[in-house]
Amino acid sequence: MIPHETILKIKDAVRIEDVVSDFVELKRRGADFIGRCPFHNEKTPSFHVSPTKGFFKCFGCGEGGDAITFVMKHEGYQYVEALKYLAQRYGITIVETEQTAEEVEKAHTRESLFDVTKFAASTFKSNLWEHNAGKAIGLSYFRERGFSDGTIEKFGLGYSLDTWDAFTQTALKSGYSEASLFGSGLALEKDGKMYDRFRGRVMFPIHNLSGWVIGFGGRQLSNEKTGAKYVNSPSSEIYDKSKVLYGIYFAKKAIANTDMAYLVEGYTDVISLHQAGITNVVASSGTALTHDQIKLVSRFSKNITVLYDGDAAGIKASIRGIDMLLEKGLNVRVVLFPDGEDPDSFAKSHTAEETEKFLSANAVDFIRFKTNLLLEEVGNDPIKRANLIEDVLGSIALIPDEIHRMVYIQECSRMLRMDEESLIRKLNYIFREKYKKEKNSGNNQLVDLAGEKAVVSQPSPPAPPEKDEEKGIFLVEKDILWLLVNYGNKEIEPQLSVANCVIKFFTENEMSFSKPHYQKIFDFVKNACNDSENPHIPDVQEILSIEDEDVKNLVITLASSQYSLCYESWKKKGIYVQSEEERIIDFWNSYMYEQLLAYVNEKIEKNQQKIEQEEDEEKQFSLLSERNQLNAMKKKLSEELNRIVR
Ligand code: CTP
Ligand code: MN
Repeated sequence: MIPHETILKIKDAVRIEDVVSDFVELKRRGADFIGRCPFHNEKTPSFHVSPTKGFFKCFGCGEGGDAITFVMKHEGYQYVEALKYLAQRYGITIVETEQTAEEVEKAHTRESLFDVTKFAASTFKSNLWEHNAGKAIGLSYFRERGFSDGTIEKFGLGYSLDTWDAFTQTALKSGYSEASLFGSGLALEKDGKMYDRFRGRVMFPIHNLSGWVIGFGGRQLSNEKTGAKYVNSPSSEIYDKSKVLYGIYFAKKAIANTDMAYLVEGYTDVISLHQAGITNVVASSGTALTHDQIKLVSRFSKNITVLYDGDAAGIKASIRGIDMLLEKGLNVRVVLFPDGEDPDSFAKSHTAEETEKFLSANAVDFIRFKTNLLLEEVGNDPIKRANLIEDVLGSIALIPDEIHRMVYIQECSRMLRMDEESLIRKLNYIFREKYKKEKNSGNNQLVDLAGEKAVVSQPSPPAPPEKDEEKGIFLVEKDILWLLVNYGNKEIEPQLSVANCVIKFFTENEMSFSKPHYQKIFDFVKNACNDSENPHIPDVQEILSIEDEDVKNLVITLASSQYSLCYESWKKKGIYVQSEEERIIDFWNSYMYEQLLAYVNEKIEKNQQKIEQEEDEEKQFSLLSERNQLNAMKKKLSEELNRIVR
């Protein structure tokens, strides 16, 4: 447990602009900083960082939060890990409070796994550089493969001794628990004895986005003919192989800078390309690409170039994985290596320049690649040809952007020597079949297509249904919260602040907010105002300490300058006010009553609907009494409004 004071100290020390600019290039604009959002791909910066308010907000994708949320989202940390990261960033020592027996027992936590994994990485590394067997076997293996000492160092490569339990014993002696050794998969058990998972292998540590080691791949040495070529860490609390891309930590900056990522198969491909100066490269580590891996890499770029071994019999199988990239709207290109070569061997037998040239000269658009590949094997067989067309169109159908789809249709029409019209007709057929399927599986968001031209306007993903938050009552409630969050302190009358006024009004009329996270904000402000020891009106920063994602997002939206009140009706009346500050009192005095009236009216309407639908007499009765209450409130509000507007 991190003591509360330490958390406050961390929060105090943190400067959001520092934390963010470790990852994002920021430029000053007025009081804020702006940059390109790291959470979605964008050309024009819409990512704002406000040092005064201590938060970030992207107006493109909507992500937002304080420094802690930023680190959590960007690095995939949990709350405590993010705090630790920040503490380290600002040189604050965390002295954890004494742990309860239960907490000590909980050796299976992420933290202990991170610790023992880090220890393993450094042990394997020192085996490689200092241990006789490590030097003779491991280090010479890497050097023979052409890895420079600098490269070996950079990727933290290591060696696991060829013994039954050398590592496990060292780890236990150094105080690491059995639970953490098992939990991380570093140790296994046989006949009640612990032994090392990795024995006599060269070790590739796998890093997460922020450079922490989360697992290992251990390769057998080249002269061994039996056993698995690679032994990998199993899934654990900190390692999920389907969510990791090997090399992402070393590649993320280059991927963002070049706006492109190379995707390769193996550890050694990543490392060799790095050594050749091509650093925007990651590996899926031999498994089929997963959605999470695609999500991870597309945070840095939407342009992916997949590098294939020339001799890979699996090209056709892996084409399916690529379809998934298309579906996510990524631009996919492919480089096929000459027979018998892979990125690793190619980079080794060519200069860095040659490698770079080869990659850029041989990158082919994926649809074209696939069409050509299939065409080669089709020959004159008409059935095979029909299948091919369907196959290629199936890939095109996955592309979300309709303009891109049209470009591909044109291209394929040329390659397949078929007219565009028939291809479009066929594509629409595919869409229709897909929709039918999705409809039958209960997904009725999709609409039927009409006419052959539909390919131009369909099927871009259906527009998201209008969020209920954008409607009437929620808008009013949001405006009320906007007032609380930004101007709670402002005095409407001497001794009467906006916050107290809103609280009084809601409490007296027994009103509540329609969404739990709206209510949470209100309750938080109310509790602070009524605090017996230190009654005060909390500011934005304090409200942001509510640990609730929905709350944080809303508060940030409300506090950012882009939030506009739903004061359209106000404008219509020709009332314009100069500064935001100035419009507060006016706001409360007229607009607010009007809005509250609208709020009550909407409740009355809902109540009426319920009364009509309710069959249970008792429930109807309570709805009726609610209506009386609402009507009384309405009357009061109307009177109040008349008094003000006069
Ligand atoms: N892989 C694995 N288990 C295996 C074989 C492969 O986990 N038995 C994964 C590894 O992540 C490996 C990748 O698949 O990096 C690609 O396999 P391969 O090309 O065989 O390995 P390389 O790492 O390229 O090693 P080398 O160049 O020495 O063959
Ligand atoms: Mn390989």
